[in-house]
Amino acid sequence: MSTYTQHLSHLQTRAELALARCGFDAMLIASGVEKFAFLDDRPYIFAPNPHFKHWLPLVNHPDSWLLIRPGHKPRLVYYQPDDYWHVPPADPTGEWVPLVELILIGKPEDAAAHLQVPGRLAIIGEADAALPGLTPNNPQNLLNLLHYQRAYKSEYELDQMRAASRRAAPAHRAARDAFLAGASELEIHRAYLAACGHTDRDLPYSNIVALNEHGAVLHYQYQDAVAPAQSRSLLIDAGAQVNGYASDITRSWSAGDGAFDALLAHMEAAQLALVDEVRAGVDYRDIHLSTHRLVAAILQDLGVVKMSVEAQLEARVTSTFFPHGIGHLIGLQVHDVGGFMADEQGGVSAKPEGHPYLRLTRPLDEGMVVTIEPGLYFIPTLLRKLQATPIAASVDWTLVEHLSRFGGVRIEDDVVCRAAGSPPENLTRDAFAALAGLPRPDVKQS
Ligand code: GLY
Ligand code: MN
Ligand code: MN
Repeated sequence: MSTYTQHLSHLQTRAELALARCGFDAMLIASGVEKFAFLDDRPYIFAPNPHFKHWLPLVNHPDSWLLIRPGHKPRLVYYQPDDYWHVPPADPTGEWVPLVELILIGKPEDAAAHLQVPGRLAIIGEADAALPGLTPNNPQNLLNLLHYQRAYKSEYELDQMRAASRRAAPAHRAARDAFLAGASELEIHRAYLAACGHTDRDLPYSNIVALNEHGAVLHYQYQDAVAPAQSRSLLIDAGAQVNGYASDITRSWSAGDGAFDALLAHMEAAQLALVDEVRAGVDYRDIHLSTHRLVAAILQDLGVVKMSVEAQLEARVTSTFFPHGIGHLIGLQVHDVGGFMADEQGGVSAKPEGHPYLRLTRPLDEGMVVTIEPGLYFIPTLLRKLQATPIAASVDWTLVEHLSRFGGVRIEDDVVCRAAGSPPENLTRDAFAALAGLPRPDVKQS
C-alpha cells in the first residue's frame, strides 16, 4: 500500500471516529471559493481550505467539495467548468483518482445535488462557500479533534514536506549567489523563484527578502527594485510547496564583516543546539525559553550587553533582540493550526508569561513538524525603548550602531520530532546537504 493510500485510510478512520464522537453522520468539506478585490473583477490568489488539501493533492480547485461518510469512499465533487477565460482544473489524474467516488460538475451550484445525505452534517468551509441548504457550520468540537490530530504527520505528509524543503534549497542557494553579486531585493526574489520553479502565486507565504537594515523588519513586505550602494547582509525567509505542504526556511548571509560574521557563527551554533532539543516529550515552550538563554549568552559573548545571562533574563533584555517566538507547527499551513491546544477537546495550553508571540505551546511528540527559527535583530523602535531604561548603561551602543547596519539574523529550519530517544530529522539541513552532495556539517561522521 502506498504512503498516500495509507494516509487517506488513516484520515478516513480518524474522521469516522471524530464524527461519531461529535454526533455527526457525515462531513462536507468545501475546497473554497475565489475572492475578488472590492468593486473589481481581479481575484486574489486562491487559498484552498486546508481540510480539503489534507485529503487530496489539489490546491487550485475552487468550488469543489468532499463528502466523507462512515463506510463509504470519499465522494469528490470536482468542479471543472467549460471556461475559455481561464484554464480550468485538469482532468482528474493521479493515485487518488480510484480512491474516491468522482463526480464532475460544470457549475458551482450543481455540487449541492451530490452532497445531499441524510442525518446531521458537519460542513467545514468558509462562509462564502455556502450553497443553498448547505451553510458551513464548522462545529468547534469536531474541528478541535481534527486540528489537534493534524499536528501528527503521516509518512505521506512527511514525504511532501521533505520535497518542499528540497524544492526551496536550490532557490536559497540562488538567492545567496544573487546577493553576493550585488543584486537588488527584487532580483534576489526573482532568482529565488526561477530556481524553485514557483511563481508568487505558488509560494506558501510571501518571500521576505531583506537587505541590510531591512533584516530588522520581522515581516518585511517589500522588494526594492534598486540595489543599495553596498549590500552588507541578506536575510531571506522563503519557502516552497509540494502538493499543498509548505517549507519555511530562513537564511542570513554576510558580505563580510568581523562583528556581524561572529554574530552569524554564534547564531548558527545556537540554532543547531535548539534543533537538537526537538524531542518527544519536550515542552516546546522550554525550547523558546532556551533560546532566550542562548541569545543572552551571545549578547554577552559579543559584548553587546555587558550583563550576565541571568541578569539579562531577569531584566528581560533579550526580548529587545529576540522579540518573536522560536517557531510553530508547519504542514498544510505555514503556521499550522492547533499550536495552543492542550487536548483534543479544545483546552488551551498557555504561553509563558511575557512571551505573547510564541505560536506553539504543546509538548512535542513523534510525527510533529515544527520550525526552529531563532533570531537576533537590531530593531530601532525596540532599541529606543531599551535606551530609555537603566539597562542602557550596560549596552555597547557603538557596537549596536555598527550591527544595526546589517539588520539582524534569523536561521530557520523545519524539523520532524522523532520517537523518544531519537534525534530529530532536520528537513531543511538534509535538503541543503543533498544539494551539495555532502554530508551534513552538523552530523559527526564515524
Ligand atoms: N515565514 C514566516 C515565519 O517564519 O513564521
Ligand atoms: Mn516560520
Ligand atoms: Mn519563515
